[in-house]
Amino acid sequence: MATTYDVVILGAGPGGYVCGIRCGQLGLKTLVVEKAQLGGVCLNVGCIPSKALIHGSKVYYKAKNGGHLGISGDLKVDLSKMVGWKDGIVSKLTAGVGGLFKANGVDHVVATGKLVGPGQVALTKADGSVQIVAALNIVIATGSSPVQIPFLQWSEDVISSTGALALSNVPDRLAVIGGGVIGMELGDVYARLGSKVTVIEAENQLLPMFDKDMVTPLMRKQKTLGVIHLVSTKVTGAEHLDGGGVKLSYEATKAGKSTTGSLEVDKVLVAVGRRPNTADLGLESVGVKIDPRGFIQVNPQLQTGVAGVFAIGDVAGNPMLAHKASKDGEVVAEVIGGHPAINDSVIASVVYTDPEIASVGPTLKELQASGRALRIGKFPMAALGRAMTADATLGFARVVGDAVTGDVLAIHIVGAEASELVNEAALTLEMAAVLEDVGLTVHAHPTMGEALMEAAKAALGEAIHAVNA
Ligand code: NAI
Repeated sequence: MATTYDVVILGAGPGGYVCGIRCGQLGLKTLVVEKAQLGGVCLNVGCIPSKALIHGSKVYYKAKNGGHLGISGDLKVDLSKMVGWKDGIVSKLTAGVGGLFKANGVDHVVATGKLVGPGQVALTKADGSVQIVAALNIVIATGSSPVQIPFLQWSEDVISSTGALALSNVPDRLAVIGGGVIGMELGDVYARLGSKVTVIEAENQLLPMFDKDMVTPLMRKQKTLGVIHLVSTKVTGAEHLDGGGVKLSYEATKAGKSTTGSLEVDKVLVAVGRRPNTADLGLESVGVKIDPRGFIQVNPQLQTGVAGVFAIGDVAGNPMLAHKASKDGEVVAEVIGGHPAINDSVIASVVYTDPEIASVGPTLKELQASGRALRIGKFPMAALGRAMTADATLGFARVVGDAVTGDVLAIHIVGAEASELVNEAALTLEMAAVLEDVGLTVHAHPTMGEALMEAAKAALGEAIHAVNA
């Protein structure tokens, strides 16, 4: 008699593996099905490897440009070695997930999973053998894949983020199509390592999901690295060159007028978004519906319209972020375990460029458009002793509160360590704090975090280290 699992989870990324561990902790008989290495995009070809190369490229860039700190010398980059260091970190983390499964009594199988009927999952192994398992609950956590531009098929010279994390040499000339999160982070890496980078973005602003003033410091910094930004520009064609490289044609639109141009590069990084992996899962066999963009529709408990079938992480819609997927996974485990839970948490956004960009809550533009009366406090990093001593004075912190209640509605941070400061910002919103809570909390000195305290005080007209508006 085949085992009946309480939960079968398809996919072991930060959504699926966290869900599996929490299910194990709750005493549910759980199987995690993963066709590749544990950890999904995040651990293998996303968040973690990119952060390793971001760090490596910053160490190189800072040392190379440390003349004003009295640091000089001949430096060179061995990218293969840096990539090898990154691979070691990935191996450690993915092995760690396997260890956590064992410790929590979670079963794991290397196979491709497919729904074949209510409560039935087929597992196809690499040798072609197929096994059917029964499940009281099924969690779809299959993640997303890079969107391809039809006339730019993946090749040695046309790469996605996965390829950009495994290059053995720094390309002389790199075109980045898409000035979103991936494009700006990896473009920044290669600009620091010495590539001549051109970013091509269809919208009229890089990182269009952020307020423009949050992106300006990054654009200025990238210009000092020689990065060219082409906004309101679409790539219209591509031609592979004899001997390697690609010639891209593009069309730019400015004030209603179109101009065309072309660009020859050694590598093209295509980063124009990701699409959910919801094809070939047998969803139709149980009646789970997907929307026109391929996402599975879920309610706040991550339930699909079909009893006992859940969807979490990238397949369940935006934001496509690892920490959102993990929270979804925990929520689903609680729901299956009989505990009330929903994912209505504050989800921070972070772009790991130099300077970093991070936020919680709506953009300033969205808040202003809502018509709500606001108190806005902005504090420049340049006014912080810690920022000066870290040689990182670019950026600012902004705290936006409701003018009547003082409730903190959004926190926007640009600067070094913004990715760390944003966790205080998330807690601020989770705890429904008011401006005084942030402004009156004593922040250790000297730290970058003082910018949040000062920005909250500035919203109250009480900043100490800046002239109040
Ligand atoms: P994205 O949605 O962040 O950015 C794609 C950009 O490409 C957009 O600005 C869009 O206007 C532009 N675009 C689309 N088609 C284009 C075209 N034909 N020509 C020029 N520009 C075009 O997508 P991205 O950067 O690929 O990232 C995918 C997902 O991964 C996102 O949901 C992102 O949030 C997530 N991610 C998050 C990270 C983080 O949290 N630090 C890091 C990396 C990825």
